[in-house]
Amino acid sequence: MARRIPALVLFAVLSAASMASAQNKEEGKKFYVTYCSSCHGDSGKGDGPAAASLPVKPANHTDGNVMNKLSDKTLFDIIAKGGPAGGKSNFMPAWGGALKENQIQDIVAYLRSIANPPYKAGGK
Ligand code: HEC
Repeated sequence: MARRIPALVLFAVLSAASMASAQNKEEGKKFYVTYCSSCHGDSGKGDGPAAASLPVKPANHTDGNVMNKLSDKTLFDIIAKGGPAGGKSNFMPAWGGALKENQIQDIVAYLRSIANPPYKAGGK
C-alpha cells in the first residue's frame, strides 16, 4: 500500500503541470500586479503611481470598447516587444526579456477577463 502513494503524488503533480500550460488568468494577474501596475494600476484602469508622470497615458484595460479591438496577437506583441509593436508609444516597455511566452499568454488571458463589455474570442 505504501508503495502506491508516490504514484498518486506523481499523478497529482503531472496533472497540475498540464493544467498550468493552459492560459491561466490567475497567474497572469500576479504578473500584472508585479510588473504592470506601476503604470497601469492594480486593477488596470491606467491609474498606477507612475502614470501621472508619463507623457502618454495607458488605456483603461477594463474598458472592453477599447481593449476588445486589439487582437490576442497585438496584445502579445505589445507586451513582448513594447508599444511600437502595436502602433503604440515606446513608453510601454518590452517585457519579452523578463517574461516567458506562456507568462505573457497568461497576462493576455487576465486582460481579457477584466474587459467590460466582455471580450468575445474572434469577435470585435
Ligand atoms: C513604465 C510604464 C509602463 C509599464 C510598467 C507597463 N506599461 Fe503597458 N503601457 C504603458 C503606456 C504609456 C502605454 C500606452 C502607449 C500608447 O498609448 O501609445 C501602454 C500600453 C499598453 C497596452 C496597449 C493598450 C493601452 O493601454 O494603450 C498594453 C496591452 C499594455 N500596455 C500592457 C502592459 C503589460 C501587460 C505590462 C506589464 C507586463 C505593462 N503594460 C507595463 C506604460 C507601461
